[in-house]
Amino acid sequence: MENTFQVEQHQKILSSLATIISVDSNCLETKLTQICALLKQEIKTYDWVGFYFVKQNSKTLHLKAFAGIPTDHTVIPFGKGICGQVAISNKNFVVDDVHAQDNYISCNIDVKSEIVIPLFLNNENIGQIDIDSNTINAFNKSDVVLLEKINEKISNYMLSNKLSINIS
Ligand code: SME
Repeated sequence: MENTFQVEQHQKILSSLATIISVDSNCLETKLTQICALLKQEIKTYDWVGFYFVKQNSKTLHLKAFAGIPTDHTVIPFGKGICGQVAISNKNFVVDDVHAQDNYISCNIDVKSEIVIPLFLNNENIGQIDIDSNTINAFNKSDVVLLEKINEKISNYMLSNKLSINIS
């Protein structure tokens, strides 16, 4: 449920995001890493925050920025886990309890809930933000709205500067 604290917290995050995006000297991947750190720092139930990007020819997702404990799952095939399912469905996926999911990739035994929001560039699903929480049922509609806004701002920045993510 959204409350006044959450509204103010999200406004503060969006304001810091605008600053991160506007600093010319940093490359896109640095900005994404800073955005991950910002979210992890400001929202105490966000325990791991990362951005995966699509490699179309191999139908895989590649981790390009994160904050939190390093994961072994830096490459995820389409269809595998929550992230891989979003690569195919192009839809938000909020998981209140990861243990209730059959198609789930565990990065850390402490994780209890997860949210994945696709990132669209010119209507194409090019990647996603993935957040793990050690709290069950950690994400609500307000988190969805915040993360959709963040992805939209990243997408607009990439479009206006003709940027793409380099996946080797
Ligand atoms: N849990 C994800 C894998 C990525 S980790 O959360 C970092 C999934 O099931 O796709």
